[in-house]
Amino acid sequence: MGWKTLDDLAMAGKVVLTRVDINVPMDGGRVTDTTRIDKIRPTVEDIIARGGRPVLLAHFDRPKGKVVPEMSLAHVVPALEAALGRKVVFGADSVGEAAAAAIAAANPGDVVLLENTRFHPGEEKNDPALAAAMAGLGDIYVNDAFSAAHRAHASTEGLAKLLPKAAGRLMEAELKALEAALGTPARPVIAVVGGAKVSTKLDLLGNLVGKVDHLAIGGGMANTFLVARGIEVGKSLAERDMAGTAAAIMEKARASGCTIHLPVDVVVAREFKANAAHETVPADACPADAMILDAGPQTVAALKAVMAECRTLLWNGPLGAFELVPFDAATMAAAKEAARLTREGRLVSVAGGGDTVAALNQAGAAQDFTFISTAGGAFLEWMEGKELPGVAALNA
Ligand code: 3PG
Repeated sequence: MGWKTLDDLAMAGKVVLTRVDINVPMDGGRVTDTTRIDKIRPTVEDIIARGGRPVLLAHFDRPKGKVVPEMSLAHVVPALEAALGRKVVFGADSVGEAAAAAIAAANPGDVVLLENTRFHPGEEKNDPALAAAMAGLGDIYVNDAFSAAHRAHASTEGLAKLLPKAAGRLMEAELKALEAALGTPARPVIAVVGGAKVSTKLDLLGNLVGKVDHLAIGGGMANTFLVARGIEVGKSLAERDMAGTAAAIMEKARASGCTIHLPVDVVVAREFKANAAHETVPADACPADAMILDAGPQTVAALKAVMAECRTLLWNGPLGAFELVPFDAATMAAAKEAARLTREGRLVSVAGGGDTVAALNQAGAAQDFTFISTAGGAFLEWMEGKELPGVAALNA
C-alpha cells in the first residue's frame, strides 16, 4: 500500500482534480442507477471539509475521441446535484478555457464537473499533452475511480505523474477490501465464480486456483468443466474447445491444494425461458435434448457447507440463469447464505462485477456483504492478478 490518502495532503484553497467514475446506466437521458454517483460523496465532502475545491474529471460511455452530445456528462448533473446536495458547475470541456472558466465560476462549497474526458482522442491514448493540459487546471490529483483503474488513460494514469496525488475514499475502500479478500485474507478462502463462458475468465480462474483454498464454479462455465471430466451436458451452453484448458486449470488447482467444486446436481429444461418446464437430475444425467440452467439443491447444500467452513468469500458471477425464474434459485440461496454468515461475523464477503451485483441485489443480500465493488472490468482484471495502471500510478 504505497499510495497516499486524502489525510496525507494539505488541500486548503487548492483545486483538487478528482477522477471519478460516474459511468452510470442511463435511459432517455436520465440516470437509472445512481450507485456510482452516491459512492463518490465521501471523497467530495472530505475535500470540501479540508478546504479544497473539487473538480471532477470523468468519462461517460465510449465516444472514441469525438464529441457525441448524447454522451455529454451534462446529463448527469441533476443526479449529481441530488446525490451531493451541492451546486454542480458544469464545464463544457475537460481542458482549456471552458474548463478554467467553470473552475473560476465555482463558489466555495460548489463542485465542478468537467465534460467527458473521452471526447478528446488523447484520453484513451494517454497523451502526455492532454494530461499536461488537465494538470494545468489544478494543484492536486485525487483518483477515486477504481472501476476505471484498469485503463491507462490520460485522466487515470498520465495525470497522476504530474501532480501531488492521493487515493480518494472509494478507491481506498476498494483497495483495502480487495487486499483483505485476496492479498492477506483470513483462511480458508472460497471463490465463487460463475457466468457464461470459461473463455472470458481464463486468467481469472488460473490466478485464483493458486491463491484460494476452494473454488466453486457455476453458471455456463461449469458445463465446460463437466465436459472436461467426460460428462455429457446435452444442449447446455458449453465451450467444448475449452475442455483442455478447463482440465489444465483443474490440474493446476490440484497442484496448489485448491479444491474445485462443480455442480453435483443440475436443473435442466428444454427451453431457455422463464418458468420453462424443468427437472433436477444428477450432473452426469443431463438428457441429450435438455440444457442445464441452474445448479441443483444438493450442489447448493454442499456450497453452503464449504462457505460455513471458510472465513473469506470472493464472489464473481451467477451460478445459473438468474435472470430467468426459477433458474435463479441456486444463486439466490447461496447469496442469502453468504449474507447470513457475514451478518453473524463468520465470513468476510467481497463481490464485484456487473451481473454479480445485480444478482446479489435481487437476492436482497448485497447490503449484508462486507464489500461490494463498484467495478466491472477492473474487478475482473484485479481478480486476474493484473496490476491496474491507475493504481500503479498512485503508488509511483
Ligand atoms: C466501467 O463501466 O466498468 C468503467 O467505467 C470503465 O468503462 P470502460 O469499459 O468503457 O473503460
